[in-house]
Amino acid sequence: MIHAETDASLPLAVDGIDKRYRGGVHANRNITLSAQRGEMLGILGPNGAGKTTLVRQITTELLPTSGSIRVFGVDVAADPVSAKNLMGIVPQEAQLFEMLTVRETLRIFGKMRGLPSADARRRADELISDLRLNEHGDVTTVKLSGGLKRRVMVGIAAIARPGLVVLDEPTTGLDPQSRRDMWGLMREYKSRGATILMTTHYMEEAEALCDRVGIISEGRLLALDTVDNLKSSQGFDFKITYSANGDGASTRTMYGKDDRELVERARAEGIRQFSLTRTTLEDVYLALTDTDTPNT
Ligand SMILES: Nc1ncnc2c1ncn2[C@@H]1O[C@H](COP(=O)(O)OP(=O)(O)OP(=O)(O)O)[C@@H](O)[C@H]1O
Ligand SMILES: [Mg+2]
Repeated sequence: MIHAETDASLPLAVDGIDKRYRGGVHANRNITLSAQRGEMLGILGPNGAGKTTLVRQITTELLPTSGSIRVFGVDVAADPVSAKNLMGIVPQEAQLFEMLTVRETLRIFGKMRGLPSADARRRADELISDLRLNEHGDVTTVKLSGGLKRRVMVGIAAIARPGLVVLDEPTTGLDPQSRRDMWGLMREYKSRGATILMTTHYMEEAEALCDRVGIISEGRLLALDTVDNLKSSQGFDFKITYSANGDGASTRTMYGKDDRELVERARAEGIRQFSLTRTTLEDVYLALTDTDTPNT
């Protein structure tokens, strides 16, 4: 049995966070979550749900209106400098010194994070290779494509091997091969004991990578669990899709926990032709974030 870590050693503990922006937007509402060592958490949610707001409070860029956040026991609001030193951060938008080359960028961030010069050099070269940036090592960052900039940002975050890595949509805009490379890299960090929190809009990514997935909508954390538990807690292990009037024009869906019971239900309703499949994370996500259904 794995014992839960004490609060002080938890890589991340978010407790009752509320964030109201000055303009009045209530972007986070009473969000509580924590991450264990070596755990990868995925945060999903529609545009404007409050994912970046949450991330920016964890990374000390924004102050919560109320609630607290601790990173390895350090309160991020009380001691942002120490907290930041424990984290690697990949913001949603790339922020690079345009006139520096990729190699220079990584070396400088390495030194800023306290690595001795020789280590910073070695680490920069290692990351250039890991991130498949070999052809671009001596190119100034202003000349890089969006996807390549994103890879450099991941390199900066990983430079000092932080215990907690926080990434806001790290794979948005990456080509499929680069996305897989990024997955490989994150799995490697994780296997070395790093804790990872990432936001993403890609269901298959969350499903493939994350130990637990949180779903945020309108500032609230609606659910946080393993993908399997999310499916079954919604009564959603299986689904049947069928054509409502037999012409294939209007497809309807029925969900259920048990495949046989679901098939019986469909037959009882007189549905002759249907397809039975396992539900995906996307099904759960769409059901939870459907704001047309009244929310209590
Ligand atoms: N600096 C700001 N000042 C005021 N309101 C803001 C600010 N930043 C974000 N918001 C608002 O807060 C809400 C949450 O925004 P946030 O950027 O956290 O969403 P998100 O989930 O990251 O969305 P996306 O998927 O598009 O990145 C939105 O209504 C947004 O307009
Ligand atoms: Mg965002």
